[in-house]
Amino acid sequence: MKLFDSHAHLEDEQFEEDREELIQKIQQEGIEKFISAGYSLKSSQRAIELAQRYDFIYATAGISPNDIPQTEEELWKILDEIKKIAEQNSKVVAIGEIGLDYHWNTENKELQKKAFEEQIKIANQLDLPIVIHTREAVMDTLEILKRSEVRRRGVFHCCPLNRELVKEGLKLGFYISFCGPVTFKNAKNANEMIQMVPKDRMLIETDSPYLSPEPVRGRRNDPRNIKYIAQKVADVKGLSIEEVANVTYQNTKKVFHLKDERRE
Ligand code: NI
Repeated sequence: MKLFDSHAHLEDEQFEEDREELIQKIQQEGIEKFISAGYSLKSSQRAIELAQRYDFIYATAGISPNDIPQTEEELWKILDEIKKIAEQNSKVVAIGEIGLDYHWNTENKELQKKAFEEQIKIANQLDLPIVIHTREAVMDTLEILKRSEVRRRGVFHCCPLNRELVKEGLKLGFYISFCGPVTFKNAKNANEMIQMVPKDRMLIETDSPYLSPEPVRGRRNDPRNIKYIAQKVADVKGLSIEEVANVTYQNTKKVFHLKDERRE
């Protein structure tokens, strides 16, 4: 069984002490590939550096809604840099995470929307898919996606447990990625969301070092825990874990247009 963790942050400071060692262990446990996702200019650069050192690691570059600078002028500067690094590095497989977050930030909605739309344009120009982060911003997220024509589509990272968003996202051609919270006993809607997403549109991710799934909830997360999310999806969908691993592996390759098959 080989697994693909479609979204982690191995460039995060929480891995400073044992990153290299951990990457060895991750590989030994059947995690064939993972994507280290950027969310700021600095984290995008660090994700790219990591991806350049290892064949089986890929990167995304983008400014998340929680990392928007104070002024529009600064925003344009940073987005120029994001475009440059994404264009220059072949291991960048998407623009992300980008989107809207009205849970953590409500005072800069307009700037968040601008950053989101502008990064969709960058994705279209570079012919890359996007990785969407959205929280408590259902209507605005859908409105921007509908009007922007995201050419290569992409994925809703860490499945928003919102029926409308998942339904419309699927209609627009996006993939949905499930993460740790779907394993929580009190996760509202989690089973329903898993049922809603067809097999050929689902991805799995850890979002490490955050959001550890049961039974390791509360500890630092890492890509080896992807098996718990695969198992949960398998249980709800009545599939074997091997089938979930296989289908999400293929879907991840497809949405991010990966050709490298070094180990097959
Ligand atoms: Ni993330």
